[in-house]
Amino acid sequence: MPAYLLGLDVGTTGAKALLCDAHGHVLATTTAEYPLAAPQPLWSEQNPADWWHGACTALRTVVARAGVAPAEIAGLGLTGQMHGSVFLDEHDEVIRPALLWNDQRTAAECAEITARVGADRLIDIAGNPALTGFQAPKILWLRNHEPEQYARVARVLLPKDYIRRKLTGVSATDAADAAGTLLLDLRRRDWSDDLLAALDIPRAWLPQVFEGPDVTGGLLPEVADALGLPAGLPVIAGGGDNAAAAIGTGIVRPGIVSSSIGTSGVIFAHAETIALDPPGRLHTFCHSVPGRYHLMAVTLAAGGSFRWFRDTVRDPAGRMVSYDDLTAMAAEVPPGAEGLIFLPYLSGERTPHLDPLARGAFIGLTARHTLAHMARAVMEGVVFSLRDGLEIMRGLGLAPTQIRATGGGGKSRLWRQMQADIYAAEVATLAAEEGPAYGAALLAGIGAGVFHSVDDAVSRCVSVTATTAPDERSIARYDAIYGIYRDMYAALRDGMHRLAMASVSA
Ligand code: XUL
Repeated sequence: MPAYLLGLDVGTTGAKALLCDAHGHVLATTTAEYPLAAPQPLWSEQNPADWWHGACTALRTVVARAGVAPAEIAGLGLTGQMHGSVFLDEHDEVIRPALLWNDQRTAAECAEITARVGADRLIDIAGNPALTGFQAPKILWLRNHEPEQYARVARVLLPKDYIRRKLTGVSATDAADAAGTLLLDLRRRDWSDDLLAALDIPRAWLPQVFEGPDVTGGLLPEVADALGLPAGLPVIAGGGDNAAAAIGTGIVRPGIVSSSIGTSGVIFAHAETIALDPPGRLHTFCHSVPGRYHLMAVTLAAGGSFRWFRDTVRDPAGRMVSYDDLTAMAAEVPPGAEGLIFLPYLSGERTPHLDPLARGAFIGLTARHTLAHMARAVMEGVVFSLRDGLEIMRGLGLAPTQIRATGGGGKSRLWRQMQADIYAAEVATLAAEEGPAYGAALLAGIGAGVFHSVDDAVSRCVSVTATTAPDERSIARYDAIYGIYRDMYAALRDGMHRLAMASVSA
């Protein structure tokens, strides 16, 4: 029986393909990059044709690199950047470039959705407030701003589901990614007729919703030929990138939470049933685990804050300081950076403030503070921001028993210890971490019958290698500073907004 698995991640910087075996060992990965366009301030767009080209290149390359016979491949799982909108006409032609998850043009449409549906009802049905990145406001934006294009729409798809349609001819999605549109009824795990009626969006435009491990169709013969893959190869529903990544890091049981520090930072928790945050500060989405849910807190500038700091500062001789040197300096400074706090709101903030006009700050500077203190404060500020998300989850009764550190925050010893101390919890790291494409490949393994279930896939393929225990004295020290950190946003909010507005009008 064929037992190799393919995962494809239609990401923002490129399409990543991964091939692994039935034990989860990765044989090859490859990424085909594509451009990102910002044609106007606040806009973020990509051309779906670039995704398709990237996906084909990545799939062809990964199979060749792995040296596996195509007939030995059991299935292909899809994942990708969430929330984007691909508008197709009745001939399946792309009408305009896709609006992406980080596009910020839809503030007026978010207000329109909230007014039409009602803020509480929206959170009750869809689990989330209207946020500019989500797909539903993008559909209204097209109606309000490009009515002649809107008149041609026959389908609206999420990024990876456009690739699915090209691969299989089928219009399908998965519950996790669909939840990020704001049009899904989270309880029923299907499109909400109430929301569609309130927003005047035809249900026929939307794909059929499947669970993450379901088979959604087979590879079309002409596509299979071009890719050198078997015709009819099962293409599995998969999931939005965060939910799929969580399959690959084993966040599939209550109590297991991940803390990922990449450009942005995410705290991701599994939930057996829907757990709603009434003010909508956390995202509540369906999980790629059938019938389950997840909560997600997002810090927009996590590793991004540290990168900004590295790119911006110089040593006294005018030289750039590497990440390793900054981290080594920061390790020499005691927890709390001797009274220096950094607010990491360099790109505004999602959790917990939902405030695009929030701004970053160093607070507490004295003449004693050095580059080393500032580096430490930046790293700590990022983790304080992630703790904000974790605290909301704790308040909803999700008691994390283990926090798995992934991304750059899992690779750095100092950042791991800081997370253990600031979260006051044990922090674990994983043997292998390949991101969303790996989770998509595991979901493919379930759909293709290589694994019996999500639990079977995770127990065979995901293992914890090391743990970092919190230091009792640092817990107490950080608790006190976190209290001050928390008060700072409220104290400075008005000033941040005035500065942000002044910089726009300047
Ligand atoms: C999640 C989100 C991002 C995108 C980018 O809400 O906006 O993580 O999925 O890949």
